[in-house]
Amino acid sequence: MCYDTLYEAVGLTAIKYGPLHNAFPDPDNQEDIMEIVVKHDYEEMSRFAAEYIASFIRKKPDCVIGFATGGTPIGTYKELIRMHREEGLDFSNVITFNLDEYLGLGIDWSKPYSRDQSYHRFMYEELFCHINIKQENVHIPDGLAKDPEEFCKSYEAAIKEAGGIDLQILGIGGDGHWAFNEPGSSFDSRTRVEKLNKQTLDDNYEAFFRDAGFSREDMPRYAITMGIGTILEAKNIIMLASGRKKADIVARALQGPVTNEVTASAIQLYRGNAVVVLDEEAASRLVMLTGNAARCC
Ligand code: PGA
Repeated sequence: MCYDTLYEAVGLTAIKYGPLHNAFPDPDNQEDIMEIVVKHDYEEMSRFAAEYIASFIRKKPDCVIGFATGGTPIGTYKELIRMHREEGLDFSNVITFNLDEYLGLGIDWSKPYSRDQSYHRFMYEELFCHINIKQENVHIPDGLAKDPEEFCKSYEAAIKEAGGIDLQILGIGGDGHWAFNEPGSSFDSRTRVEKLNKQTLDDNYEAFFRDAGFSREDMPRYAITMGIGTILEAKNIIMLASGRKKADIVARALQGPVTNEVTASAIQLYRGNAVVVLDEEAASRLVMLTGNAARCC
């Protein structure tokens, strides 16, 4: 079955719900809504997310996009690459700011991609090398910065200088984190160095670092991350999650109490246009109320 469904969630106070046609926002017309779009599987989720991002770029070719790393957005990036190649989707004026980078890692072209676990390398391999983005428009936190604290301040300043982030792409970690804002991070936190918690280290070791030849002890334990406060200032948000292992944490973030123990629950405080794109497995623990909208496509 192929469908889009907007679920009206329980227990959310700060969010209004809007009709699905708002899923493709006008970049200059910021609204205060959250939409939850459920797609059948990862491929459909990725195609929807890519179309959403592409529609944004077509409407505002010089937009500022916040990019995310991790397993979840890879399918979306593949589809954006296809759209660039086959449909001429133009990234030449797009400005990018990535969410995070491991402290101590930077791009190392002398290594094969499978051994270079920097988020710099991820972004170039999974997206930037395959589209017409300008190098000078790409911003990724510098995990090798001599003075990381100073770097974090300059990153915040660069985001402001660019006019703020028009569209922030987000995943959600197994511990509910947004970017590397681990449980306990303040909702008004800014770009900073963050200590990674055990679950994140375990998840990322299994997903990435083990196969790259790292021992569990050798993997980076700190990261530079945009803060929750920084993310909440984005004008639009698109959050992606896929798979059954995300189902509980997605339900806690979207429908549970707003708490900095699940930093993605900050989405409930977000004042802007947020769209959450899930596959059926990731949506399987949401409390679904009938009502707002459901349509076949
Ligand atoms: P994942 O990571 O996409 O690899 O599940 C998401 C995140 O940590 O934000």
